[in-house]
Amino acid sequence: MRHARAAQLRVTTAVTTVLILAAATACGGGGTSSSSAHGGKGSTVGIAMPTKTSLRWIVDGQAMVKQFGAKGYKTDLRYANNDIDTQVSQIHKMIAQGDKLLIISAIDGEALGEVLLEARDAGVKVIAYDRLILASNDVSYYASFDNFKVGQLQAEYIVDKLGLKNGKGPFNIELFAGSPDDNNTQYFYNGSMSILQKYIDKKQLVIGSGQKRITQVNTLRWDPGIAQARMKDILATSYGSQHVDAVLSPYDGITRGIIAALKADGYGTPAKPLPVITGQDAEAASVKLILSGEQSETVYKDNRKLARVAVQMGDAILTGGKPEINDTKQYDNGNKIVPAYLLPPVSVDKTNYKRELIDTGYLTPADLK
Ligand code: BGC
Repeated sequence: MRHARAAQLRVTTAVTTVLILAAATACGGGGTSSSSAHGGKGSTVGIAMPTKTSLRWIVDGQAMVKQFGAKGYKTDLRYANNDIDTQVSQIHKMIAQGDKLLIISAIDGEALGEVLLEARDAGVKVIAYDRLILASNDVSYYASFDNFKVGQLQAEYIVDKLGLKNGKGPFNIELFAGSPDDNNTQYFYNGSMSILQKYIDKKQLVIGSGQKRITQVNTLRWDPGIAQARMKDILATSYGSQHVDAVLSPYDGITRGIIAALKADGYGTPAKPLPVITGQDAEAASVKLILSGEQSETVYKDNRKLARVAVQMGDAILTGGKPEINDTKQYDNGNKIVPAYLLPPVSVDKTNYKRELIDTGYLTPADLK
């Protein structure tokens, strides 16, 4: 009898063991309670950011490390110094070392197709962060801001400040766009032109340099030095005694370069005031310029919220849930429409910087000293 019970117990134990093993295999092996086919809590998230030269990516990276950590994940955060090969090799290493999810802000949206095939083969899911990854099937989700709206906000600011709706003008304007290999660039530019074009057509806005096409006005790698050199060249060749009244700039770093060129040309005095000039990212250095009256506006995108969106998506993917999205139409990467969650951007100038940037804790008063 005792033998029979013992035998029964052994069988039961064996069956249970088989069932546990089967369940573990179905979940992708590993055998620990925290792992699953999706990665599970405790797994590592690879975070590939483009560069540290712009403050925003530092904030994004730190926010994601903190928020993933709070949800029980490990993170591997890397910056690629705006170098495409470096970014590809960082992603390659993340996959090789067993990271279960990749969050990538691409330097060149079209350069990652091949390395993402490795991700797919390894069962690693990919979230495009802020910048869409193009020409790849292996992007699951996209977390960003409403990028078309960013461009609209910048253009609307110029329209307002110049009084274009009241028929004022003509005013001279120069246009700048972002990096040609960043998918956001065309969204910003198209958003802006959706507002500015009609005033250009009515000749209330005149592009002194004549440079209007995105291929003429873009700025490789968002490089402030390139923008500064282009502005300097435009002033020398197209302006003479004419005055630049407005500059559409897509990003604070570019704006600082443009302002440097303008000041070197004598702008910034009562007789030769700086033009209305836009920006993006609410970088402390630029908010200081807004307070001193040199830059007019910036578009604030709360990266802490963007990090929250990416972490929410990542957590859902890694635990077999469904990420929250709010856009399934706008972001076609050439291979597929990537489901996205888009946050609203906010236009900031002297009049609302305190409410938007200081009261929200995005910047401290000390940052602006
Ligand atoms: C981002 C902007 C940023 C720019 C330069 C774009 O992709 O959306 O926020 O200003 O890159 O870093």
